[in-house]
Amino acid sequence: MAQRDVAIGLLGLGTVGMGVYRLLQERQERITAAVGVRPVVKKILVRDRSRARLGIDDGLLANSFEEIANDRDIQLVVEVVGGRDPAFRYAKETLSGGKHLVMANKELLATRGEELLRIARRRNVDLLFEAAVAGGIPIIRAMHESLSGDKVQRIQGIINGTTNYIITRMTDEGQAYARALKDAQLHGYAEADPTNDVDGIDAAYKLAILAGIAYRTNVRMKDVHHEGIRNLHPEDIEYSRELGYVVKLLAEASDRDGALELSVAPSLIPLKHPLAAVKDAFNAVLVRAEWAGELMFYGAGAGQRPTASAVVADIVKVLHHIQTGSVGTLPTPPSEQRAVRRLDEREARFYLRLRVADEPGVLAAVALILARENISVQCVIQKGRHADDVVDVVFLTHEALERNMRRALQKFRLLPAVREVAAMLRVRGD
Ligand SMILES: NC(=O)c1ccc[n+]([C@@H]2O[C@H](COP(=O)([O-])OP(=O)(O)OC[C@H]3O[C@@H](n4cnc5c(N)ncnc54)[C@H](OP(=O)(O)O)[C@@H]3O)[C@@H](O)[C@H]2O)c1
Repeated sequence: MAQRDVAIGLLGLGTVGMGVYRLLQERQERITAAVGVRPVVKKILVRDRSRARLGIDDGLLANSFEEIANDRDIQLVVEVVGGRDPAFRYAKETLSGGKHLVMANKELLATRGEELLRIARRRNVDLLFEAAVAGGIPIIRAMHESLSGDKVQRIQGIINGTTNYIITRMTDEGQAYARALKDAQLHGYAEADPTNDVDGIDAAYKLAILAGIAYRTNVRMKDVHHEGIRNLHPEDIEYSRELGYVVKLLAEASDRDGALELSVAPSLIPLKHPLAAVKDAFNAVLVRAEWAGELMFYGAGAGQRPTASAVVADIVKVLHHIQTGSVGTLPTPPSEQRAVRRLDEREARFYLRLRVADEPGVLAAVALILARENISVQCVIQKGRHADDVVDVVFLTHEALERNMRRALQKFRLLPAVREVAAMLRVRGD
């Protein structure tokens, strides 16, 4: 190693790891010229050493994590293995050992990030994770640095490309959920087991990370209410459009009357809303800050090249710190644990679809339940009659308490004329 080299240990050589390796090779001289030190990948850890890896010298492959952890030359480790174990051990031992860490692991950061940040602070090393949220979109840095003097009021985002792709197919082609999911799998946008994506878990991880930085607090996963898109029907997308809305899997964090509200759920947003035009696997985050106003970040939320770009940007930042001997820029420790409002206590406007018997008095019975729960209706539309004399009735409500809406749903289910509570979605953003 030359004196101006900074040795890097790369954990993982999959989609992201390979991208990081290639981009570092391609940009090595430019980065060196800009920062003054040269990034050199010294060792790479993979699960299966016997697999052929195109363009990778066999000698680079490490036999174990310990080989990297115990290498005194290596100052920076990049974790792109994914999952919780053994990634957590790798991350913890890297930081405890006084090495800087760059990672893209949203699951780990959302569940154990606070612990890792504490170790990084104690050891005075960098822990950077731009790629963990929205792939190539530089949202973490914007939130952490560019808005550090402002107050974030609300974050709204489409931060899961898989579900946005599925919803786009359902919206543009009227596909049913199952067919759109198959399509997403065929095109490599969804994994064979899509649970984390379609149940809103992946977006909840990302929202927890973003909100933690924006509101300087430790957001626990249990604080983020999350719903997925498995029960989304094309007819609700269609009826929403007639009412002037699109449906999106919306991640939202807001600071309302002193408490945080954090949720991921399929939601109606107005056709003119900036996030309404975000299609396919793209991601976007709309931030409203007290002084900066509305800011929109848009781009590819995943994929080898965008994600590698974000990881390498973090690497360059660490190199810069090493070169200047400056302290890293970790999120400031939370000064207080912010209160989080329970879902029941939150207010929203609702979209409701009931499948009811087409007979006199049904609407009146439904309206009475809503009125008793203090829910006022903005508009009602009745949609096509089905074979067995049932019709869909769609309601848009004014702001109402979630708790009241849930009680109303229970009461609807007791009405013999109500065959099904077919959909309950929230209306956001107007
Ligand atoms: N893919 C994206 O577009 C994207 C976007 C943003 C963030 N991320 C995050 O980036 C991380 C990596 O994702 P990826 O898509 O690159 O995953 P991937 O393609 O599955 O690659 C994982 C890599 O880690 C290695 N690995 C797995 N378990 C290991 C273990 N126990 N010990 C050592 N090595 C192990 C694998 O080795 P083998 O090669 O031997 O299997 C492989 O090289 C994840 O945290 C993911 O959430 C990914």
